[in-house]
Amino acid sequence: MVGAAGLSGVPAGSVGPPEPQWLCASASLHERDLAVGFDLLYYRRPARGFALRIDGLAVAYVNLCAHVPVQMQWQEGRFLDHDGRWIICAMHGATYEPKTGHCVAGPCAGARLRGVRLDERDGQVYWYPCADIRPAAPAATTAPAIPT
Ligand code: FES
Repeated sequence: MVGAAGLSGVPAGSVGPPEPQWLCASASLHERDLAVGFDLLYYRRPARGFALRIDGLAVAYVNLCAHVPVQMQWQEGRFLDHDGRWIICAMHGATYEPKTGHCVAGPCAGARLRGVRLDERDGQVYWYPCADIRPAAPAATTAPAIPT
């Protein structure tokens, strides 16, 4: 199962496909519940990403609001409203469709969150670096072997 939010392809100048990065076990992502966060570099600056499960699909975004580039969570892992319907930025209330990252209301209506490509297989979730989203550190030592 692949979360297709914001695919951006292979980094310019790279050889071969990007190396998938282990994110979490599939069981850690509960339907429209708390997010799992992860470190990354966004345009070479340290940032955070967050992953959610929406309608069974794992999706992930860079944790920077499209209005002002600040982290959006209300509490640790809490991005969604009480109904789990929308991602709502804690700063000024921008409201995002969680499957697409499109802002549907608020000060940045019409903009969108930067998606992170995911792959979910064999009970594990991986994210894929691209030209502007890179790993923050070497892959976690607890990552399971990637099945071939
Ligand atoms: S910083 Fe997110 S709505 Fe303003």
